[in-house]
Amino acid sequence: MLAVSRKAQRFTESVIREMTRLCRQHDAVNLAQGFPDFAAPREIKDAACRAIEADVNQYAITWGAKSLRDAIAAKTERLYGLAVDPEREIAVTCGATEAMIASILAIVDPGDEVVVFEPFYENYGPDAILAGATPRFVPLRAPDWSFDPDELAAAFSDKTRAIILNTPNNPTGKVFTKEELEFIAKLCLKWDVLAITDEIYEHIIYDGHKHVPMASITGMPDRTITINGLSKTFSVTGWRVGWAIAPSDLAGPIRKMHDFLTVGAPAPLQEAGAVALAMPESYYTEMAAGYARRREILCDILERHGFKFNRPQGAYYIMTDVAHFGFDSDIECSTYLVKECRVATVPGSSFFNDKKAGRTKVRFVYSKREETLREADKRLAKLATRVTR
Ligand SMILES: Cc1ncc(COP(=O)(O)O)c(C=O)c1O
Repeated sequence: MLAVSRKAQRFTESVIREMTRLCRQHDAVNLAQGFPDFAAPREIKDAACRAIEADVNQYAITWGAKSLRDAIAAKTERLYGLAVDPEREIAVTCGATEAMIASILAIVDPGDEVVVFEPFYENYGPDAILAGATPRFVPLRAPDWSFDPDELAAAFSDKTRAIILNTPNNPTGKVFTKEELEFIAKLCLKWDVLAITDEIYEHIIYDGHKHVPMASITGMPDRTITINGLSKTFSVTGWRVGWAIAPSDLAGPIRKMHDFLTVGAPAPLQEAGAVALAMPESYYTEMAAGYARRREILCDILERHGFKFNRPQGAYYIMTDVAHFGFDSDIECSTYLVKECRVATVPGSSFFNDKKAGRTKVRFVYSKREETLREADKRLAKLATRVTR
């Protein structure tokens, strides 16, 4: 066998994207991967077409088109009162995905430790491995996905370089409170640790919960890298436009990593991104209201079919407990759902380092049209013939 690197052997292909492949094979409804099956806003599609017609078709400035960086800075100031220098404190990347790996590579050395809450968005584990870092996992516990402050404090040490946060959270739907973030901030200050915070679901939030940016917490502006992107807010996951906002002494190295990873994000789509970020407040309110409706529809469907879960406070996922269904594992349950019911989900263990913690869990996504969710409802009826409740 040809030799491959030890790094490449330490993680598998994405389970989520594998579920999408299985979904196609079985002609299933895709409630696995977090992309919308509805249209992106007309205004931004038009803006993308205009940019291509205007021949914005060559490499953008490696750290991002000025129009997009200006729009990111203006929106951050407008929304949270946080001043960002678009010339020195922003790196535009190929999605939040690249912003995360570029940030980790920029600040972490082999042997450093990185604190990661679990369950976690599945990229964070491989990202840490690629950077040579050792992840220290701290559990978020169902049903409310809270963490034990003592357990978190015990994960920090002289070796800790960064903590990775994601709020609103995939896969749990948790929105970290200001008090929780303040507690994390105290640990970051005590141990001289940076926070890398993935806030890509900042606008998808329910029931009066508020998104609090880590960079707004006292003591954190100088030690926070905030990651975001167009994918979720504007229903354009295939455009691959994201960014990192960081103090200039961190943004510089992130830009350098990004330059040598991908050179630049798609140039015409960055121009469309500038138009997207200038959309009025009503866009965000209506988008969140649409997700609140979809959440109600899927919660109702899953309740009727016997799944157990806590309603998400933000993002667009439902992490369900399926222990009582009698499957041997989450993988067996997800495989049954995709092959027999023809509804694709993600086995819970793919979000955990401690695989047994995810063995009784299956994740659903509801960034889908109502018809798609209703079709899944019909198909899930078959589950009743299999489960041993
Ligand atoms: C928490 C989180 N971060 C990042 C991403 C990917 O973002 P992007 O499309 O900007 O790379 C996802 C996609 O599901 C996600 O759930």
